[in-house]
Amino acid sequence: MNIENDLQIRKICSEDIDILLGIENESHPDPWSRKMFEKELKLDYAYFFVGNILSEIVTYIGFWHIMDEAHLTNITVSKNYRRLGIGKKMMEYLTNCSKMLKIKRILLEVRENNLPAISLYKKFDFKKIHIRKKYYSNYENAVIMEKLL
Ligand SMILES: CC(C)(COP(=O)(O)OP(=O)(O)OC[C@H]1O[C@@H](n2cnc3c(N)ncnc32)[C@H](O)[C@@H]1OP(=O)(O)O)[C@@H](O)C(=O)NCCC(=O)NCCS
Repeated sequence: MNIENDLQIRKICSEDIDILLGIENESHPDPWSRKMFEKELKLDYAYFFVGNILSEIVTYIGFWHIMDEAHLTNITVSKNYRRLGIGKKMMEYLTNCSKMLKIKRILLEVRENNLPAISLYKKFDFKKIHIRKKYYSNYENAVIMEKLL
């Protein structure tokens, strides 16, 4: 498999949601619900993309475009496809979209113990700017990170 050639990224559509729920449930302690995905399809400031290999959805990424900022809402790679560079491709896609939209900074929040995600974000020059204490339902801290463009 060659991620560079084989990963096709496109906008989400409502038919994708069943698949996304399966990936979401195996990937996050507080997975998104169907309603949350449906909301992303309706909001005019929400951007959401899925990545396919052949015809299988293996990843997705979303952000909100607010003023001159992008707020990352979700990035997930299906378990069987991790550590192949797909997360990096999706972050590159986010960066390119943000530049096209003339966004000045990208913000995200991540669980303090989510070391794979934090490592990925650091590779894209995200810096920690704030900690939200006991932010998640299990009282885990949230780390707020930003990348200036
Ligand atoms: C975080 C996530 C998106 C990374 O996706 P991925 O496709 O496996 O990432 P890549 O293969 O592109 O790896 C990119 C970098 O991420 C980091 N990384 C990824 N998995 C890692 C792991 N298990 N341990 C440590 N670092 C890891 C590394 O820095 C890696 O760079 P390297 O390969 O040069 O070492 C994926 O693990 C995932 O979907 N996790 C569950 C959902 C999640 O936590 N999303 C983020 C919520 S804020």
